[in-house]
Amino acid sequence: MRILALESSCDETAAAVVEDGRKVLSSVIASQVEEHKLYGGVVPEIASRRHCEAVVGVTQQALDDANMKLDEIDAIAVTYAPGLIGALLVGVNFAKGLAMSSGKPLIPVHHLRSHIAANYITSPELKPPFLCLIVSGGHSHIVEVKDYTELRVIGRTRDDAAGEAFDKAARAMGMPYPGGVEMDKRAQGGNAEAFKLPHPTVDGAPYDFSFSGLKTSVINLIHNAEQKGQTLPVEDLAASFRKAVVDCLIKNFIKAAQDTGNTKLVIAGGVSANSLLRSRLQEECRNRGWEFYMPELKLCGDNAAMVGAQGYYEYLSGKTAGLDLNACAEMPVDGNC
Ligand code: KG4
Ligand code: ZN
Repeated sequence: MRILALESSCDETAAAVVEDGRKVLSSVIASQVEEHKLYGGVVPEIASRRHCEAVVGVTQQALDDANMKLDEIDAIAVTYAPGLIGALLVGVNFAKGLAMSSGKPLIPVHHLRSHIAANYITSPELKPPFLCLIVSGGHSHIVEVKDYTELRVIGRTRDDAAGEAFDKAARAMGMPYPGGVEMDKRAQGGNAEAFKLPHPTVDGAPYDFSFSGLKTSVINLIHNAEQKGQTLPVEDLAASFRKAVVDCLIKNFIKAAQDTGNTKLVIAGGVSANSLLRSRLQEECRNRGWEFYMPELKLCGDNAAMVGAQGYYEYLSGKTAGLDLNACAEMPVDGNC
């Protein structure tokens, strides 16, 4: 089955053709990041407008790269939640137009489920059940993936998402948006023990995260130094912050795995590109004899190939939408709008 997939939940307009959920025939991404950099973060109205401009060309390119015409496609999949509502609506309405004009089924796909599915492309042997740490710009979840479309959230952030904390702390350190990527680079040369930062926990909820206190403590360190006319060593600060975030993520993820008896661990989402998170988890799992999977780097961030992968399994489970499909800014990964 060949699925044409569309993604427009944030600041990437993407289209892809994916066969049977695992084989990527084409994947095109038009990123708006350079424009949003000017403002230090994504400006929703600009994002929607750029999706409008890019979506036709990106989709045509994906079909051309796959050497296919629309009538050779079996279904249209689209990210419909969660994300920036104006941005999502561009992809959803365009997908509806394609489905209507071609008579093909329309498959709505949850953005975080598609991040998990990036792993099905990278690791063709990977099948549920497994435990997944989803870490993106907007979400930090520990999810039991019982089956492709049967998920249960057992841990979540109480405030900032991991990516959001990286971006905000990086901005205070003077790094451009998206700061998580830059901080990971700058941290390579730094001393992670240089600054003792808090490792917040949530009372009575061992799998939940809280990053806002950690973020604020770094911002306060920077502001206090500025007031005294001092400059802090950015590499050391970046390395210390990265380590604190990764320590918190790993501690809760490993505990959740132990408590639920899961020995197959998977990471997903933009922050799964973090080099320390990847290497530390690989080591933790190797030491315990557990399986560990992560998406290849080019599939960690937003793309449409992962939407085509998850779309295939949503279709197999019977999930298709009518032309009254709406987008939702918020939607639990294990529930409905
Ligand atoms: O999943 P994603 O592309 O978009 C959302 O669905 O939110 O995630 C974007 C987030 C941003 O916060 C970005 O800074 C972060 O992923 N990110 C990283 C790295 N690469 C991307 N954070 C830490 N280290 C990285 N290497
Ligand atoms: Zn994402």
